[in-house]
Amino acid sequence: MDVKNATVFITGANRGLGLAFAREAHRRGAVKVYAGMRNTSGFKEPGVVPVRIDVTDRTSIAAAAELAADTTVLINNAGIAALIDGPLAADVEAQSARLFETNYYGVIRVTQAFEQILLAKPHAAIINVLSDIVWLPRPYLTPYAASKTAAWSYTNQLRYHLRERGVQVLGLHVGFVDTDLTKGIDVPKANPDDVVRHTYDALAAGKSEVMADKGTTMLKSTLAAEVPGYITPPPGL
Ligand SMILES: NC(=O)c1ccc[n+]([C@@H]2O[C@H](COP(=O)([O-])OP(=O)(O)OC[C@H]3O[C@@H](n4cnc5c(N)ncnc54)[C@H](OP(=O)(O)O)[C@@H]3O)[C@@H](O)[C@H]2O)c1
Repeated sequence: MDVKNATVFITGANRGLGLAFAREAHRRGAVKVYAGMRNTSGFKEPGVVPVRIDVTDRTSIAAAAELAADTTVLINNAGIAALIDGPLAADVEAQSARLFETNYYGVIRVTQAFEQILLAKPHAAIINVLSDIVWLPRPYLTPYAASKTAAWSYTNQLRYHLRERGVQVLGLHVGFVDTDLTKGIDVPKANPDDVVRHTYDALAAGKSEVMADKGTTMLKSTLAAEVPGYITPPPGL
């Protein structure tokens, strides 16, 4: 599905990847772009309509869905991360619970709220912003990895469930991207605008998954190997 002439709703679109999704949708000729965000005050972006939504709050989600009932492309982008000492750290359970609220249950809540809206359209799509972390061991990101892997699994079930119902479901996997989320992590990072371009191109090409950077493409190619990347990451990752 092409974002040209679509009506796009993006969660967490006041900054980072979400804002890049909003700007690029407008640039590509989307009819309307709703930028979902927790705090709309002071947000000004040409061609982009700010809408209050907190993905942990069902009341705000229902209000946003009512306001944006013309949506044809939903982008579940809002997400949070946490750095911890590893899988056995004292705070692993608390951080996992916190991250699941946004990164997993948030995706479910928003998707449920937009289900009937999307099913009513002749062409509709959902993009779920996932990560290379679903296949990559990074012990200091254990809660984040678990929450994104749960969201990946949900994406796969959702895609299969919706495939005869005219809703394209696209999972976006990418490594480190240069946004606030990765501030202070000193590694090579993808440009958010490049990630968004790859993603919208994949959506237009009718794809179900997009690997938006070279590292993630290489990582995925190891999955059928005897020692896949989630056991021993390929060099450079
Ligand atoms: N950066 C990376 O390396 C990377 C890699 C792979 C995947 N991702 C994923 O990409 C997505 C966007 O992340 P980013 O890199 O752009 O990070 P970011 O710059 O930190 O932006 C995160 C966005 O999510 C919003 N958000 C957080 N909790 C929310 C909630 N409960 N309800 C609504 N919005 C909420 C934030 O809003 P506030 O401004 O109100 O906090 C912000 O707009 C996330 O799903 C992330 O996991 C990022």
